Amino acid sequence: MYKRYLITSALPYANGPVHIGHLAGVYIPADIYARYLRLRGRDVVFIGGSDEHGVPITIKARHLGVSPQDVVDKYHNLIKDSFERFGITFDIYSRTTSRIHHETASEFFRKLYNDGKFIEQTSEQFYDEGAGQFLADRYIIGTCPKCGFEKAYGDQCESCGSTLSPNELINPKSAISGSIPVMRQTSHWYLPLDQYQDFLEDWILNNHKEWKTNVYGQCKSWLDQGLQPRAVSRDLAWGVPIPVEGAEGKVLYVWFDAPIGYISNTKELLPDTWEMYWKDAETKLVHFIGKDNIVFHCIVFPSMLKAHGDFILPDNVPANEFLNLENDKISTSGNWAIWLHEYLDELPGKEDVLRYVLCANAPETKDNDFTWKDFQTRNNSELVAVLGNFVNRALILTQKYFDGKVPEINDLTNYDKEMIAEIPVIRQEVENSIETFKFREALKKAMDLARLGNKYLADTEPWKTAKTDMNRVETILNIALQISANLSIIFDPFLPFSMKKLRRMLNIDAIEWDKLGTLSLLSGGHQLAVPELLFDKIEDDIIDAQINKLQVTKKSNISVVVHPESAPPKETVLYDDFEKMDIRIVTVINTERVPKTDKLLKLTVDTGIDTRTVVSGIAEFYKPEDITGKQVCLLVNLAPRKIKGIESQGMILMAKDASGKMCLMQPSEIINNGAEIG
Ligand code: 2FM
Ligand code: ZN
Repeated sequence: MYKRYLITSALPYANGPVHIGHLAGVYIPADIYARYLRLRGRDVVFIGGSDEHGVPITIKARHLGVSPQDVVDKYHNLIKDSFERFGITFDIYSRTTSRIHHETASEFFRKLYNDGKFIEQTSEQFYDEGAGQFLADRYIIGTCPKCGFEKAYGDQCESCGSTLSPNELINPKSAISGSIPVMRQTSHWYLPLDQYQDFLEDWILNNHKEWKTNVYGQCKSWLDQGLQPRAVSRDLAWGVPIPVEGAEGKVLYVWFDAPIGYISNTKELLPDTWEMYWKDAETKLVHFIGKDNIVFHCIVFPSMLKAHGDFILPDNVPANEFLNLENDKISTSGNWAIWLHEYLDELPGKEDVLRYVLCANAPETKDNDFTWKDFQTRNNSELVAVLGNFVNRALILTQKYFDGKVPEINDLTNYDKEMIAEIPVIRQEVENSIETFKFREALKKAMDLARLGNKYLADTEPWKTAKTDMNRVETILNIALQISANLSIIFDPFLPFSMKKLRRMLNIDAIEWDKLGTLSLLSGGHQLAVPELLFDKIEDDIIDAQINKLQVTKKSNISVVVHPESAPPKETVLYDDFEKMDIRIVTVINTERVPKTDKLLKLTVDTGIDTRTVVSGIAEFYKPEDITGKQVCLLVNLAPRKIKGIESQGMILMAKDASGKMCLMQPSEIINNGAEIG
């Protein structure tokens, strides 16, 4: 058995709020695992934090006209606060812009540099002459060589999920200006992953066959293709500066510094003892991540740790697949998500319902779908009808027959004995499932204990026996209450808020996992508190409001189709004709791509009169994040038309020159939405 556990959960990028996909994929399983181990009395450190570097953050800042620091400050605080409210029990939630992280990441780089672990190579890279900047990662966009998607990024194609390098893109363009970049020489440091191939093959393929199939399979596929050196530096102004001479204007690649964040945050939490967690072979290190992070946690970071030499390697990396929402891919830019902070505001007191549904339906082996209807059904027919119902019956009957005092246990029947023998079996099953990262299965087994309780009450019918044999009723209710107390332990990692409430009703506080399976959790004569409902039924209006909200998002995804063509001068019109056109300044509040098209974007705009959707053929020239937040000109009284099934309510005005280049028409300064052009 390990002496201590170091649990890490992927550091979310601080460029947007956290949504249910993050929760189901990473934070709920990690929190269940941490809570479970703590209940077992294990020495646990659970590390979280925000990933505050990388190109997406600088792109967002550029588009909002604020600094990257402003962006990460805003989202770090929002994320940290919502995790806390949701009961994710990080021992620390810090950030990669912290001083301690910059120092730790710099030291890590310097050690590898001094030990000659990097290769320094000069190569030609894309450069935007107008912007005066090299185009790393997401700053370069082009056609994916694997699937033909035209807006693939320099590091990844979001359509087919392939990892890419900028040179592989077909027709690359600058994401900053849309211009065609030139090639310019620059030098970078590379971690020669090929030199770690043998070590990784032995470590993963031979010695970690127990890893989840999706994780093991992805690692095997990377290893089968043969690993290549990977650059660990970038020509960017935002990040951890490369701490060696002659590296001005260069920073660590975000995927080099981010996982070091796990170490920095442990250091920040435990300045005197952190090394015990990272350098002692008796620590079990587990990384909870989503599937898109597998290569970095199983191949790249372990190679970095190995190259460094002082650190332990992860014992397991239980990555989950993705969660969809109402049959569509969750999308931050398309606002297709249930945001944690909004959920907490709109459904107060229902933290455990979301925890339950996202665990019961977690994408552990394949992508899964979240629907509000399923959320309602699981609440009403499982939490309320099974768990809540059993506990409530046990408590109410005790109130009724024994004034809320735990009755003594008398002679046990064979049936009682058989039923009681089931409890440690369930405990064992839940333990096995949690320890092998099968949290859905564990939750289901825990629910079996509540089902068993319901069956026990239904079979023994204490409300009938009460007419003839109170001695027997005492035993039945003692057992039912002991099961309730057992439930308050077994469900604690999954439903911490409700189990606390249950313990309040049972009038017990401290709990230990090791007491689970016994009937000695409550002594005869112990006074219970006044019972309340453990869970409330969720009515249709709550669900309908949430479904409606999503429909509004869908509908309000706007667009204008612009068919820009160079044309000879048009015939003269009268001023009256011109005046018929209602052209306004509007703000684009949301932008998303129209699926299965290359040119169309669906924009939601605030016209000052209303919020509407416009479909616009500008995807070749603008990425969704280039447009959101901008003021543009909209012909608002153009008759609505359907484009790719979406009703477009207006037309965004664009200028087009003879070369075919197009750009948006924007006011020279901010003006109220709805301002008329004429
Ligand atoms: O995919 C992501 O959201 C990354 N920010 C995860 C980083 S995990 C760790 F390495 F920090
Ligand atoms: Zn692709």
